[in-house]
Amino acid sequence: MAKKEIAQFDKLVEEYTKHPKVLEMKKYKHHGIERFDHCKRVAYFTYHVTKLLHLNVESATKAAMLHDFFTDEVMDEGAISKLRWHPEIAAENAREYFGLNDMEEDIIMRHMFPITFIPPRYLEGWIVDIIDDLTSIYERGYSMKKQFAPAMNAFVLFILTIIK
Ligand SMILES: [Fe+2]
Ligand SMILES: [Fe+2]
Repeated sequence: MAKKEIAQFDKLVEEYTKHPKVLEMKKYKHHGIERFDHCKRVAYFTYHVTKLLHLNVESATKAAMLHDFFTDEVMDEGAISKLRWHPEIAAENAREYFGLNDMEEDIIMRHMFPITFIPPRYLEGWIVDIIDDLTSIYERGYSMKKQFAPAMNAFVLFILTIIK
């Protein structure tokens, strides 16, 4: 992405990325990384794709940045319940702190489709849903790689010692 586009993206999400409640997401792990970083990554790709397709860049990027906007509200819930209910809590938080239009609300509420059964109403919602899935797969892989890196290095060193 060109420097100008990165600056535009940063400006677009600035209101959210500097907000103390949003910054709280840095304390929580999501797919092995900070939830804040996950949201920003999804927002970054959403910005790029929606701009390319001449869609509603502002609403899609905002909703992507806030799609997992929850902190400890669902920590005690079971895994399935958390998967199902966190979009509602994220939407509630986003509405309370920033206000949401119809599209933004729908994008956040439906980003876990098909787990949450009702599909997104807007193309922007489908884009966030797909980008979220792809990003999650990438982040899980990255965090596992990082987790097993020391063991892998020790194993390679062990093999090299034997071969010598
Ligand atoms: Fe989510
Ligand atoms: Fe997500």
